Amino acid sequence: MKKMPIDFYYYSGSGNTLLVVNEIAKKLSENGIDVTLHKIESCSAIQVNPKRIIGLAFPVAFQSTFPFVWKFFKDMPNGNSTPVFMVDTMMSFSGAIVGPLKKVLTQKGYTCIGACEIKMPNNWLPKKVDKTENEKLIHLGLKRAREYALELIEGKSVWKQIPFLSQAFYHLCCNSFVMHKFILPEGEKITLDASKCVKCGMCAKLCPVKNITMESYPKWNHSCQLCMRCINFCPTTAIGFNGKDFTRYRAVKAQELLN
Ligand SMILES: Cc1cc2nc3c(=O)[nH]c(=O)nc-3n(C[C@H](O)[C@H](O)[C@H](O)COP(=O)(O)O)c2cc1C
Ligand code: SF4
Ligand code: SF4
Repeated sequence: MKKMPIDFYYYSGSGNTLLVVNEIAKKLSENGIDVTLHKIESCSAIQVNPKRIIGLAFPVAFQSTFPFVWKFFKDMPNGNSTPVFMVDTMMSFSGAIVGPLKKVLTQKGYTCIGACEIKMPNNWLPKKVDKTENEKLIHLGLKRAREYALELIEGKSVWKQIPFLSQAFYHLCCNSFVMHKFILPEGEKITLDASKCVKCGMCAKLCPVKNITMESYPKWNHSCQLCMRCINFCPTTAIGFNGKDFTRYRAVKAQELLN
């Protein structure tokens, strides 16, 4: 990879992806590459500058990623052979992102120079958070992040794809069948225990799609993408899912996602 400046766009629901992004950025900077981080939820895709190298980072969700993250990728301006790399974090497996994203970016004129998928702790309704196991996963995940940064620098990174399988998965996971008909309209699946809520507004500040409005209590509207941020970061665990209790997972402090 040429030592050109990098704009690294990321979304992180509970901090795993942010940890990985910071690790990659650190390694790149140590090697003389200027990296600027941008939060996907706070910028507009049309501001992406195709004259710089582009990095994209996000968590896997439902074998793919969240619709607002996909929208960002699809709204990016056309590239002019602009080098782009991606990294995602996941608990086990993604079938519908690496190939489909390469297809979208290639059609826009980008040159896809590297894709890396990194296992990190589960942030999706975990029954039990095993701290020792999670620390191990984070340790290995960050090691992989550093290796990937070196692969990018040395031009050894690859962006593999399984064309048929991942496109089929993409249509299954990202079309209205799964995401929109069954999951997204059920924002009401998120439940509030008002007796625990201290009305701090943290949930509303953190929601990447501004789905929560603060009235006398927080109110969930109808564009929830189930990223888990509000649930995981509520300081009093007032927010649940279907009224059920589970252990919350967060890899960083809420403020680090807001900075
Ligand atoms: C709604 C949702 C769906 C998820 N689906 C998958 C999945 O299909 N495959 C997987 O390996 N991990 C899945 N995960 C786990 C996350 O991808 C993983 O924990 C990730 O590292 C979280 O990153 P973050 O902390 O940056 O948000 C899902 C998490 C959420 C919240
Ligand atoms: S973060 Fe929790 S305590 Fe704060 S307003 Fe939201 S639900 Fe209430
Ligand atoms: S309402 Fe909560 S779970 Fe839904 S998108 Fe916003 S922060 Fe994420």
